[in-house]
This record gives sequence, structure tokens and C-alpha cells, in this order.
Amino acid sequence: MLRKIAIAAISVLALSGGAYAAGGGEQHIEDVDFSFEGPFGKYDEHQLQRGLQVYTEVCSACHGMKFVPIRSLSDEGGPHLPEDQVRAYAKQFTAIDKETGEEREATPNDFFPKSSLSNAPDLSLMAKARAGFHGPYGTGINQFFRGIGGPEYIVSILTGYTGHEVEQAGTTFYENTAFPGGLIAMNPPLSDGQVEYADGHDNSVHHMAEDVAAFMMWAAEPKMMARKQAGFVAVLFLGLLTVLLYLTNKRLWAPHKGKKQG
Ligand code: HEC
Repeated sequence: MLRKIAIAAISVLALSGGAYAAGGGEQHIEDVDFSFEGPFGKYDEHQLQRGLQVYTEVCSACHGMKFVPIRSLSDEGGPHLPEDQVRAYAKQFTAIDKETGEEREATPNDFFPKSSLSNAPDLSLMAKARAGFHGPYGTGINQFFRGIGGPEYIVSILTGYTGHEVEQAGTTFYENTAFPGGLIAMNPPLSDGQVEYADGHDNSVHHMAEDVAAFMMWAAEPKMMARKQAGFVAVLFLGLLTVLLYLTNKRLWAPHKGKKQG
């Protein structure tokens, strides 16, 4: 009986998987091995710092990150910049003072600015707002093994330009193999060697894309490492509890076992 139910369930999943794959379009998302993947994954502080540099020098011209407090740049487990550097960093932005209502230099207690280009989406939560991979079923591309794929989606967008442009209703669209529909209004923001990294790291488009995507994952989920740690402790604790309960159960029933029935 159980086996029949299992087989029925699997065939339903397989069928819906097929239907899904058929409707999914031809988006191409590349799988990237990020340092923060897996149950023990951690953000790479240096990568986050490089990503911050790419965001600041390139993306922030159009995109804001209005939900991210500037002071979190000094957080351990994040980019972990020294506090004086964060204060200096904040000064390049302006903020509206709550008391005087006037514009002033931003401080670490302010948030990153909002998007300056009205059709450029805010990037604070982008890494969690998009999925690169779909479904626990179907063609083998699945979230169970690869995760949701938000940062992979961002990498794929930044590296997925074909160089082809289309003019539609007075707007230029750029062909992109990762963007749903295939035409994006953002012109290719990165070119090889564009950002001069302080640590001398490879600055090809692909590396810059990975770095900025990792930075965006951190922006969207700054406490990921703490969450994984808490999860690990919880699993350990539940394992221990299981052993103790098993032994208790055995002991409680011991006097009744081995007796002849009736
Ligand atoms: C010249 C302005 C400009 C720059 C610079 C720019 N973008 Fe964009 N970006 C846009 C616009 C406009 C859109 C909306 C495109 C659309 O919806 O077709 C967009 C959309 C996006 C999207 C969302 C795609 C989606 O699924 O909706 C991501 C992710 C993104 N940009 C990342 C970046 C990153 C990372 C950088 C820096 C490396 C960057 N952008 C630099 C203008 C810009």
C-alpha cells in the first residue's frame, strides 16, 4: 500500500515537473560554488569587501539598497570593515536629518540611499527575491541540491549579455540569457578590469559579478551564519534528546519485556 502511494506521488511530481520545465522558458542560470553554501558555509569577508567596491563604484549609480544600514558594514561575519572606514564610507552619501529636515552628510547610522534611477529596482533583498533554480522535481535543475539560486541569478544576469540590442517603443533593450523574457532594460554594467580591486584580485566581469552577488546575498541575509550555527546546535541537541529518550523508553519498559503473555 505504502509503495503504491509513493509511486503515485512520484509520478504526479514527475508530470508536474515536466509541465513546469516546458513553461519555464530558456533562462540560462549558471551554478556557482559560493563560500556561503552548505550547512557550514561562511561568507568570505574579502569577497564581500570586493563586492561592496563593485556595488559602490558601479551599481550604486542607479540602484539603491535602502533597507541596509551602513553601520552593518563593520559587522563580524559581514564585510567587517573597521569602524573609522565605515564612517568615512558613509560620508559620500547624503541623508535628510530627522530633526532639522535638512540634507546632511550620512553617518553609519543611516541606511544606504534609495535607487536614483526610478526603474532600477532596489538591491537590498534582490538575492532573495529572485530564484535561479526551480522546483524539487523535473529536469534535475532543482533547489534541493543547488539552493534557491538568487546570487547565481545575479551572476548570470551580469554575465548573460549577448551583445544584441533591440529598440522597442523608444527604449533600448539588451538581450540577456538569464533575464526572463530575454530582454532587459539595464545596459551591461560591467566590463573586464572596470573595478581596480585593492587586494589585486582578478577583475574580469565574471569575478566582479560573483563578488557583487555574494555581497548582495549578505545584504539580504546578514545573519545567515548565525542562523546556520543555531540550526546546527539544535540538530545536535535533538540528536542527544533522541538518544536519551530511547534509553529512557527502554528502561521504563524493561520490567514488562520478556514476560510470557497470558
Ligand atoms: C545605468 C543604470 C544601471 C546600472 C549602473 C546598474 N543597473 Fe541594474 N538595473 C538597471 C535597470 C534600469 C534595471 C531594470 C531592468 C528591467 O527591468 O528590464 C536593472 C535591473 C537589475 C536587476 C534585476 C533584474 C530582475 O530580475 O528584475 C539586477 C539584479 C541588477 N540590475 C543588478 C545590477 C548590479 C549588480 C549592478 C552593478 C554591477 C547594476 N545592476 C548596475 C539599471 C542599472
